Amino acid sequence: MIRKEDRRLRVGVLGAGPIAQFAHLESCVKARNADLYAICEAAPDLLERVAAYYQPTRTFTDYDAMLADPALEAVVVATSDAWHVPMSIRALEAGKAVLCEKPIGVAVEEVEGLRDVVRRTGRVLQVGHMKRFDPGLQAARDFIATEMGAPLALKAWYCDSTHRYSMTDAVQPLPIVSRAQKKPTDNPKADLARYYMLAHGSHLVDTARYLCGELTEVRARLSERFGAYCWFVETGFANGTLGHLDLTIAVRMDWHEGFTLYGEHGSIIARTYNPWYYRSSDVDIFHERDATTRRVLGADGHFFRRQLEGFAATMLDGAPQTGADIEDGLASVRAMAAIAESVRTGRTVTLADMRGSVGGAS
Ligand SMILES: NC(=O)c1ccc[n+]([C@@H]2O[C@H](COP(=O)([O-])OP(=O)(O)OC[C@H]3O[C@@H](n4cnc5c(N)ncnc54)[C@H](O)[C@@H]3O)[C@@H](O)[C@H]2O)c1
Repeated sequence: MIRKEDRRLRVGVLGAGPIAQFAHLESCVKARNADLYAICEAAPDLLERVAAYYQPTRTFTDYDAMLADPALEAVVVATSDAWHVPMSIRALEAGKAVLCEKPIGVAVEEVEGLRDVVRRTGRVLQVGHMKRFDPGLQAARDFIATEMGAPLALKAWYCDSTHRYSMTDAVQPLPIVSRAQKKPTDNPKADLARYYMLAHGSHLVDTARYLCGELTEVRARLSERFGAYCWFVETGFANGTLGHLDLTIAVRMDWHEGFTLYGEHGSIIARTYNPWYYRSSDVDIFHERDATTRRVLGADGHFFRRQLEGFAATMLDGAPQTGADIEDGLASVRAMAAIAESVRTGRTVTLADMRGSVGGAS
């Protein structure tokens, strides 16, 4: 049952493409502390159809017109990666808070520019690393912070499945499309290694950081065979955790995502589902003190609505920002760029020195 609080953040969603239709529009309508105040979509026919269903207070085809509305408090940026930084900057400069889809950008320098604007304006910016709002992963993080003691080693994997579209076609509504949708002139899928890193690697890197903190260095190898891409990444963390990340697109089996983490007073084994099932990860936490494994049910696995509620709570109640902030977004982009650089050079790459864009296979 949807319960709405009295004070709700007035949110405008920029872009009514697949991610808005599958996640953000519904999240705004269902969130306890936010409303779908506006939708801005360049394609008028698409705008009309989504607005007829979701019933925002206002609709726009022009972003500046939406930003000029004084009643609008926050923007969800749901456009292609290449526009995340410029669209977020425009919203911040117009005095709005921003929840921007991941990855926050495609190059270190542009994200540093965005960080400057966040600092100068003092506005809230959250990056849409929605897995941070998976109740299973939240239980893991809680255990790490309170009981696990020193971490020893993290192995984390994110392996997309060749059958993912059979799954998602079965559970998602048909997306509404339009010929008038705005697309970047450069095809984001022209370089698949780069595209997979930005689309999927961003989740893996953020989950690793969410669990074990700052990444300091990476040494990566990429195997590309029969159309599949597999990155094995040795990672160093500032807290001394030994790390190994596996990003594979796509495995010839079911969706395969999760991690194991060995700590001083316990261990965690996690299995994460394809996100479109909206199901909390199965996270088995072994407590050494009583030799017992516990698993949170996490009945509410709507990570996208939960991330919006967290964002709105920061805005409305001054609650601590539990979602990824601009520093987290920047660190993820640095890590992805460093992985590509390490693949290219065969060397260990220190993240603090990393500049440039997230590269591809060459
Ligand atoms: N969190 C996740 O797990 C997850 C999953 C899928 C996609 N994403 C991210 O979501 C983002 C968007 O993905 P998508 O597939 O919906 O993108 P898309 O490009 O298919 O759709 C974006 C929509 O925004 C509109 N648009 C773009 N610029 C506009 C502007 N200036 N004014 C008005 N409308 C504008 C376009 O017309 C289009 O309809 C990507 O960055 C992607 O990485 C995240």
